[in-house]
Amino acid sequence: MTGRQLPDFVERDVDLATRTTLALPGRAAFYAEIRSTAQLERLAGTRALRRFVLGAGSNLVLTGDFDGIVLHMAISGRQLIGEDDDAWYVRAGAGENWHQLVNWTLVKGCWPGLENLALIPGTVGAAPIQNIGAYGLEMADRLQSLEAFDLRTGKTLRFDRDACRFAYRDSIFKHEGWHLNARLVITRVTLRLAKAWRPLTAYADLAAELDRQQLGRPNARQIADAVIAVRRRKLPDPAVLPNAGSFFHNPLVDAAVGERLAAAHPNLPRYPQADGRVKLAAGWLIEQSGWKGRDLGRAGMYEKQALVLVNRGGATGTEVVALARAVQASVGERFGVELTPEPVFL
Ligand code: EPU
Repeated sequence: MTGRQLPDFVERDVDLATRTTLALPGRAAFYAEIRSTAQLERLAGTRALRRFVLGAGSNLVLTGDFDGIVLHMAISGRQLIGEDDDAWYVRAGAGENWHQLVNWTLVKGCWPGLENLALIPGTVGAAPIQNIGAYGLEMADRLQSLEAFDLRTGKTLRFDRDACRFAYRDSIFKHEGWHLNARLVITRVTLRLAKAWRPLTAYADLAAELDRQQLGRPNARQIADAVIAVRRRKLPDPAVLPNAGSFFHNPLVDAAVGERLAAAHPNLPRYPQADGRVKLAAGWLIEQSGWKGRDLGRAGMYEKQALVLVNRGGATGTEVVALARAVQASVGERFGVELTPEPVFL
Protein backbone atom coordinates (compact mmCIF):
# COMPACT_ATOMS: atom_id res chain seq x y z
CA MET A 1 0.00 0.00 0.00
CA THR A 2 1.47 3.36 -0.93
CA GLY A 3 0.53 6.77 0.44
CA ARG A 4 -2.00 7.20 -2.37
CA GLN A 5 -3.91 4.02 -1.51
CA LEU A 6 -4.25 4.58 2.22
CA PRO A 7 -7.73 4.51 3.80
CA ASP A 8 -9.49 7.84 4.21
CA PHE A 9 -9.01 7.90 8.01
CA VAL A 10 -5.27 8.41 7.48
CA GLU A 11 -4.13 12.03 7.90
CA ARG A 12 -1.01 13.51 6.32
CA ASP A 13 1.85 15.62 7.66
CA VAL A 14 0.81 15.62 11.33
CA ASP A 15 2.68 17.37 14.14
CA LEU A 16 3.88 14.88 16.76
CA ALA A 17 5.43 17.29 19.30
CA THR A 18 2.10 17.96 20.99
CA ARG A 19 1.37 14.23 21.11
CA THR A 20 4.45 13.35 23.16
CA THR A 21 5.26 14.36 26.72
CA LEU A 22 8.88 15.38 25.99
CA ALA A 23 7.53 17.88 23.43
CA LEU A 24 10.41 17.44 20.97
CA PRO A 25 9.84 18.63 17.40
CA GLY A 26 8.85 16.10 14.72
CA ARG A 27 6.14 15.39 12.17
CA ALA A 28 4.62 12.17 10.82
CA ALA A 29 4.16 11.79 7.07
CA PHE A 30 1.00 9.74 7.79
CA TYR A 31 -1.06 9.43 10.95
CA ALA A 32 -4.12 7.37 11.84
CA GLU A 33 -6.20 7.47 14.98
CA ILE A 34 -7.17 3.84 15.61
CA ARG A 35 -10.52 3.41 17.34
CA SER A 36 -11.27 -0.18 16.30
CA THR A 37 -9.66 -3.39 15.07
CA ALA A 38 -11.62 -2.93 11.85
CA GLN A 39 -9.31 -0.01 11.04
CA LEU A 40 -6.28 -2.20 11.71
CA GLU A 41 -7.72 -4.81 9.33
CA ARG A 42 -7.77 -2.17 6.61
CA LEU A 43 -4.10 -1.44 7.27
CA ALA A 44 -3.00 -5.10 7.48
CA GLY A 45 -0.52 -6.38 4.95
CA THR A 46 0.95 -2.93 4.24
CA ARG A 47 4.69 -3.18 4.27
CA ALA A 48 5.67 -0.36 1.98
CA LEU A 49 5.35 2.16 4.80
CA ARG A 50 7.25 2.12 8.07
CA ARG A 51 4.84 1.96 11.01
CA PHE A 52 5.00 3.17 14.57
CA VAL A 53 2.41 2.56 17.30
CA LEU A 54 1.81 5.57 19.54
CA GLY A 55 -0.02 5.63 22.85
CA ALA A 56 0.14 8.76 24.98
CA GLY A 57 3.71 9.49 23.84
CA SER A 58 4.95 9.45 27.42
CA ASN A 59 7.90 7.13 26.80
CA LEU A 60 9.08 8.47 23.47
CA VAL A 61 12.04 10.49 22.17
CA LEU A 62 11.37 12.04 18.78
CA THR A 63 14.67 12.44 16.97
CA GLY A 64 13.12 14.21 13.98
CA ASP A 65 10.44 13.67 11.32
CA PHE A 66 9.02 10.19 10.67
CA ASP A 67 8.45 9.25 7.03
CA GLY A 68 6.06 6.36 7.77
CA ILE A 69 2.64 5.99 9.38
CA VAL A 70 1.96 6.58 13.07
CA LEU A 71 -0.90 4.48 14.47
CA HIS A 72 -2.28 6.37 17.43
CA MET A 73 -4.10 3.87 19.64
CA ALA A 74 -7.48 5.21 20.73
CA ILE A 75 -9.49 2.00 21.26
CA SER A 76 -11.67 2.79 24.27
CA GLY A 77 -13.83 0.95 26.78
CA ARG A 78 -13.37 -0.50 30.23
CA GLN A 79 -15.56 -3.03 31.96
CA LEU A 80 -15.76 -5.68 34.62
CA ILE A 81 -15.95 -8.79 32.43
CA GLY A 82 -16.28 -11.35 35.15
CA GLU A 83 -15.62 -12.48 38.67
CA ASP A 84 -15.03 -15.77 40.47
CA ASP A 85 -14.34 -16.72 44.08
CA ASP A 86 -10.77 -15.47 43.81
CA ALA A 87 -10.74 -12.39 41.64
CA TRP A 88 -12.37 -9.67 39.57
CA TYR A 89 -11.45 -9.44 35.90
CA VAL A 90 -11.34 -6.02 34.28
CA ARG A 91 -10.83 -5.40 30.57
CA ALA A 92 -9.80 -2.12 28.98
CA GLY A 93 -9.12 -0.86 25.47
CA ALA A 94 -5.53 -0.03 24.51
CA GLY A 95 -6.32 3.67 24.16
CA GLU A 96 -7.66 4.12 27.68
CA ASN A 97 -5.63 6.36 29.97
CA TRP A 98 -3.82 4.19 32.53
CA HIS A 99 -4.32 6.44 35.55
CA GLN A 100 -8.01 6.90 34.80
CA LEU A 101 -8.37 3.12 34.68
CA VAL A 102 -6.66 2.81 38.09
CA ASN A 103 -9.02 5.43 39.53
CA TRP A 104 -12.05 3.78 37.98
CA THR A 105 -11.22 0.40 39.53
CA LEU A 106 -10.98 2.03 42.94
CA VAL A 107 -14.03 4.30 42.67
CA LYS A 108 -16.43 2.40 40.47
CA GLY A 109 -16.10 -1.06 41.86
CA CYS A 110 -13.76 -0.97 44.83
CA TRP A 111 -11.65 -3.55 43.08
CA PRO A 112 -8.26 -2.96 44.71
CA GLY A 113 -4.92 -4.03 43.30
CA LEU A 114 -3.71 -1.30 40.97
CA GLU A 115 -3.27 1.47 43.58
CA ASN A 116 0.57 1.43 43.59
CA LEU A 117 0.51 2.15 39.86
CA ALA A 118 -1.55 5.37 40.20
CA LEU A 119 -0.52 8.42 38.18
CA ILE A 120 1.78 6.55 35.80
CA PRO A 121 1.41 8.44 32.52
CA GLY A 122 0.49 6.58 29.35
CA THR A 123 -2.11 4.26 27.89
CA VAL A 124 -3.36 0.81 28.84
CA GLY A 125 -2.01 -0.70 25.60
CA ALA A 126 1.51 0.55 26.21
CA ALA A 127 1.63 -0.60 29.84
CA PRO A 128 2.50 -4.28 29.19
CA ILE A 129 5.18 -3.52 26.59
CA GLN A 130 7.62 -2.08 29.09
CA ASN A 131 5.93 -3.79 32.05
CA ILE A 132 5.26 -0.52 33.88
CA GLY A 133 6.09 -0.62 37.55
CA ALA A 134 6.28 1.56 40.65
CA TYR A 135 6.36 1.28 44.43
CA GLY A 136 6.80 -2.46 44.57
CA LEU A 137 4.24 -3.47 41.94
CA GLU A 138 4.41 -4.05 38.20
CA MET A 139 2.05 -4.79 35.36
CA ALA A 140 3.18 -8.43 35.33
CA ASP A 141 1.63 -8.88 38.79
CA ARG A 142 -1.86 -8.00 37.56
CA LEU A 143 -2.10 -8.90 33.89
CA GLN A 144 -4.34 -11.86 33.05
CA SER A 145 -4.14 -11.73 29.25
CA LEU A 146 -4.08 -9.36 26.32
CA GLU A 147 -5.19 -9.24 22.71
CA ALA A 148 -2.94 -8.03 19.95
CA PHE A 149 -3.55 -7.55 16.25
CA ASP A 150 -0.86 -8.92 13.93
CA LEU A 151 -0.61 -6.47 11.04
CA ARG A 152 1.28 -8.98 8.92
CA THR A 153 -1.33 -11.75 9.04
CA GLY A 154 -4.44 -9.70 9.88
CA LYS A 155 -5.19 -12.00 12.85
CA THR A 156 -5.82 -11.23 16.50
CA LEU A 157 -3.56 -13.13 18.91
CA ARG A 158 -4.12 -13.77 22.60
CA PHE A 159 -1.23 -13.71 25.07
CA ASP A 160 -1.68 -14.92 28.63
CA ARG A 161 0.59 -13.61 31.36
CA ASP A 162 3.34 -16.20 30.91
CA ALA A 163 3.41 -15.75 27.15
CA CYS A 164 4.22 -12.06 27.69
CA ARG A 165 7.59 -13.08 29.26
CA PHE A 166 7.68 -10.14 31.59
CA ALA A 167 10.90 -8.94 33.20
CA TYR A 168 12.04 -5.62 34.67
CA ARG A 169 10.72 -2.98 32.20
CA ASP A 170 10.66 -5.68 29.55
CA SER A 171 8.34 -8.11 27.76
CA ILE A 172 8.20 -10.27 24.64
CA PHE A 173 6.73 -7.28 22.80
CA LYS A 174 10.14 -5.62 22.76
CA HIS A 175 11.73 -8.72 21.22
CA GLU A 176 11.38 -11.51 18.68
CA GLY A 177 10.61 -9.17 15.82
CA TRP A 178 7.22 -8.12 17.20
CA HIS A 179 8.33 -4.54 17.52
CA LEU A 180 9.92 -4.45 14.08
CA ASN A 181 7.87 -2.18 11.87
CA ALA A 182 5.16 -2.31 14.51
CA ARG A 183 4.03 -5.76 13.48
CA LEU A 184 1.97 -6.34 16.61
CA VAL A 185 -0.54 -3.87 18.00
CA ILE A 186 -1.97 -4.44 21.47
CA THR A 187 -5.70 -3.74 21.34
CA ARG A 188 -7.15 -4.92 24.69
CA VAL A 189 -5.80 -5.82 28.11
CA THR A 190 -7.45 -7.93 30.83
CA LEU A 191 -6.38 -7.53 34.45
CA ARG A 192 -6.90 -9.91 37.34
CA LEU A 193 -7.56 -8.20 40.66
CA ALA A 194 -7.43 -10.71 43.50
CA LYS A 195 -10.15 -10.58 46.14
CA ALA A 196 -7.60 -11.51 48.81
CA TRP A 197 -6.11 -8.02 48.71
CA ARG A 198 -2.80 -7.29 50.42
CA PRO A 199 -1.47 -3.74 50.72
CA LEU A 200 2.05 -3.29 49.29
CA THR A 201 3.57 -0.56 51.39
CA ALA A 202 7.21 -1.58 51.88
CA TYR A 203 8.74 0.79 49.27
CA ALA A 204 10.67 3.39 51.30
CA ASP A 205 9.10 6.57 49.85
CA LEU A 206 5.60 5.15 50.08
CA ALA A 207 6.05 3.85 53.64
CA ALA A 208 7.35 7.27 54.70
CA GLU A 209 4.37 9.05 53.13
CA LEU A 210 1.86 6.71 54.82
CA ASP A 211 3.67 7.26 58.14
CA ARG A 212 3.53 11.01 57.62
CA GLN A 213 -0.23 10.76 57.12
CA GLN A 214 -0.40 8.45 60.16
CA LEU A 215 -2.11 5.74 58.13
CA GLY A 216 -1.35 2.51 59.95
CA ARG A 217 -3.67 0.26 57.93
CA PRO A 218 -4.39 2.15 54.73
CA ASN A 219 -7.03 1.06 52.23
CA ALA A 220 -6.35 0.93 48.50
CA ARG A 221 -7.65 4.46 47.88
CA GLN A 222 -5.40 5.85 50.60
CA ILE A 223 -2.40 4.04 49.13
CA ALA A 224 -3.21 5.46 45.68
CA ASP A 225 -3.41 8.95 47.20
CA ALA A 226 -0.07 8.47 48.97
CA VAL A 227 1.53 7.25 45.71
CA ILE A 228 0.11 10.30 43.94
CA ALA A 229 1.54 12.60 46.62
CA VAL A 230 5.02 11.02 46.35
CA ARG A 231 5.00 11.13 42.55
CA ARG A 232 3.88 14.78 42.50
CA ARG A 233 6.73 15.72 44.84
CA LYS A 234 9.48 13.92 42.92
CA LEU A 235 8.39 13.69 39.30
CA PRO A 236 7.74 16.71 37.07
CA ASP A 237 4.28 17.14 35.52
CA PRO A 238 4.85 16.87 31.74
CA ALA A 239 2.27 19.62 31.18
CA VAL A 240 4.56 21.99 33.10
CA LEU A 241 8.03 20.58 32.38
CA PRO A 242 8.11 18.16 29.44
CA ASN A 243 9.70 14.77 30.29
CA ALA A 244 9.37 11.03 29.69
CA GLY A 245 9.66 9.76 33.26
CA SER A 246 12.79 7.79 34.15
CA PHE A 247 15.15 8.22 31.23
CA PHE A 248 17.37 5.22 32.02
CA HIS A 249 16.75 1.75 33.42
CA ASN A 250 18.07 1.01 36.85
CA PRO A 251 21.07 -1.11 35.80
CA LEU A 252 21.22 -4.80 36.69
CA VAL A 253 24.76 -5.94 37.47
CA ASP A 254 26.33 -9.24 38.53
CA ALA A 255 26.70 -9.90 42.26
CA ALA A 256 30.49 -9.45 42.06
CA VAL A 257 30.15 -6.03 40.43
CA GLY A 258 27.54 -5.07 43.04
CA GLU A 259 29.94 -6.02 45.83
CA ARG A 260 32.84 -4.13 44.31
CA LEU A 261 30.71 -1.00 43.97
CA ALA A 262 29.26 -1.38 47.47
CA ALA A 263 32.77 -1.56 48.95
CA ALA A 264 33.80 1.63 47.16
CA HIS A 265 30.44 3.43 47.63
CA PRO A 266 28.64 2.27 50.76
CA ASN A 267 25.71 4.68 50.17
CA LEU A 268 24.86 3.36 46.72
CA PRO A 269 21.26 2.01 46.89
CA ARG A 270 21.29 -1.66 45.84
CA TYR A 271 18.37 -4.05 45.38
CA PRO A 272 19.30 -7.79 45.25
CA GLN A 273 17.26 -9.69 42.64
CA ALA A 274 15.93 -13.25 42.74
CA ASP A 275 18.38 -14.31 40.01
CA GLY A 276 21.42 -13.23 42.06
CA ARG A 277 22.01 -9.99 40.19
CA VAL A 278 21.80 -6.59 41.88
CA LYS A 279 19.76 -3.63 40.70
CA LEU A 280 21.43 -0.25 41.22
CA ALA A 281 19.71 3.13 41.54
CA ALA A 282 20.52 4.98 38.32
CA GLY A 283 19.29 8.25 39.88
CA TRP A 284 21.97 7.98 42.55
CA LEU A 285 24.71 7.19 40.01
CA ILE A 286 23.66 10.19 37.91
CA GLU A 287 23.49 12.49 40.92
CA GLN A 288 26.96 11.41 42.10
CA SER A 289 28.27 12.02 38.60
CA GLY A 290 27.27 15.65 38.94
CA TRP A 291 24.28 15.72 36.60
CA LYS A 292 21.39 16.35 39.00
CA GLY A 293 19.87 19.70 38.01
CA ARG A 294 22.49 20.19 35.28
CA ASP A 295 21.63 21.16 31.69
CA LEU A 296 23.25 20.58 28.32
CA GLY A 297 21.71 22.85 25.73
CA ARG A 298 17.97 23.09 26.31
CA ALA A 299 17.70 19.67 27.99
CA GLY A 300 18.65 18.80 31.55
CA MET A 301 18.47 16.26 34.37
CA TYR A 302 15.69 17.15 36.80
CA GLU A 303 16.74 18.80 40.06
CA LYS A 304 14.46 16.66 42.29
CA GLN A 305 15.05 13.28 40.54
CA ALA A 306 18.26 12.92 38.54
CA LEU A 307 16.88 9.96 36.56
CA VAL A 308 14.35 12.17 34.79
CA LEU A 309 15.50 14.04 31.69
CA VAL A 310 13.54 17.26 31.08
CA ASN A 311 13.04 19.57 28.14
CA ARG A 312 13.71 23.08 29.51
CA GLY A 313 11.95 24.59 26.49
CA GLY A 314 12.61 24.21 22.78
CA ALA A 315 14.99 21.24 23.04
CA THR A 316 15.43 19.02 19.99
CA GLY A 317 15.90 15.26 19.76
CA THR A 318 19.56 15.87 18.92
CA GLU A 319 20.05 17.80 22.16
CA VAL A 320 18.36 15.07 24.17
CA VAL A 321 20.55 12.40 22.60
CA ALA A 322 23.66 14.51 23.32
CA LEU A 323 22.68 14.91 26.97
CA ALA A 324 21.85 11.21 27.35
CA ARG A 325 25.27 10.29 25.90
CA ALA A 326 27.06 12.76 28.19
CA VAL A 327 25.31 11.31 31.26
CA GLN A 328 26.10 7.75 30.15
CA ALA A 329 29.76 8.70 29.63
CA SER A 330 30.06 10.29 33.09
CA VAL A 331 28.44 7.34 34.88
CA GLY A 332 30.53 4.89 32.82
CA GLU A 333 33.76 6.69 33.67
CA ARG A 334 33.05 7.11 37.36
CA PHE A 335 31.39 3.78 38.18
CA GLY A 336 32.09 1.48 35.21
CA VAL A 337 28.32 0.94 34.86
CA GLU A 338 26.47 1.21 31.56
CA LEU A 339 23.13 3.04 31.59
CA THR A 340 20.59 2.07 28.94
CA PRO A 341 17.79 4.46 27.95
CA GLU A 342 14.25 3.50 28.95
CA PRO A 343 12.18 5.38 26.34
CA VAL A 344 11.72 4.39 22.72
CA PHE A 345 13.57 6.49 20.12
CA LEU A 346 11.80 7.37 16.87
N1 EPU B 1 18.17 8.66 44.13
C1 EPU B 1 19.19 9.54 44.33
N2 EPU B 1 19.22 10.67 43.58
C2 EPU B 1 18.27 10.96 42.65
C3 EPU B 1 17.21 10.05 42.46
C4 EPU B 1 17.19 8.89 43.21
O1 EPU B 1 20.09 9.33 45.14
O2 EPU B 1 18.35 12.03 42.04
C5 EPU B 1 18.09 7.45 44.98
C6 EPU B 1 16.93 7.57 45.96
O3 EPU B 1 17.30 8.23 47.12
C7 EPU B 1 16.59 6.12 46.24
C8 EPU B 1 16.92 5.44 44.92
O4 EPU B 1 17.79 6.32 44.20
O5 EPU B 1 17.43 5.59 47.23
C9 EPU B 1 15.70 5.12 44.11
O6 EPU B 1 15.00 6.33 43.79
P1 EPU B 1 13.42 6.37 43.59
O7 EPU B 1 12.72 5.72 44.75
O8 EPU B 1 13.04 7.77 43.26
O9 EPU B 1 13.13 5.42 42.37
P2 EPU B 1 13.92 5.16 41.00
O10 EPU B 1 14.65 3.86 41.12
O11 EPU B 1 14.73 6.36 40.63
C10 EPU B 1 12.04 3.73 39.92
C11 EPU B 1 11.33 3.68 38.61
C12 EPU B 1 10.23 4.74 38.56
C13 EPU B 1 9.26 4.48 39.72
C14 EPU B 1 10.03 4.52 41.04
C15 EPU B 1 9.18 4.13 42.22
C16 EPU B 1 12.88 2.85 36.93
C17 EPU B 1 13.78 3.20 35.79
N3 EPU B 1 12.25 3.90 37.51
O12 EPU B 1 12.72 4.99 39.98
O13 EPU B 1 9.52 4.58 37.34
O14 EPU B 1 8.23 5.45 39.75
O15 EPU B 1 11.13 3.56 40.99
O16 EPU B 1 8.90 2.76 42.17
O17 EPU B 1 12.75 1.68 37.29
C18 EPU B 1 9.52 5.32 35.07
O18 EPU B 1 9.81 4.15 34.76
O19 EPU B 1 9.37 6.21 34.20
C19 EPU B 1 9.40 5.66 36.48
C20 EPU B 1 9.18 6.92 36.89
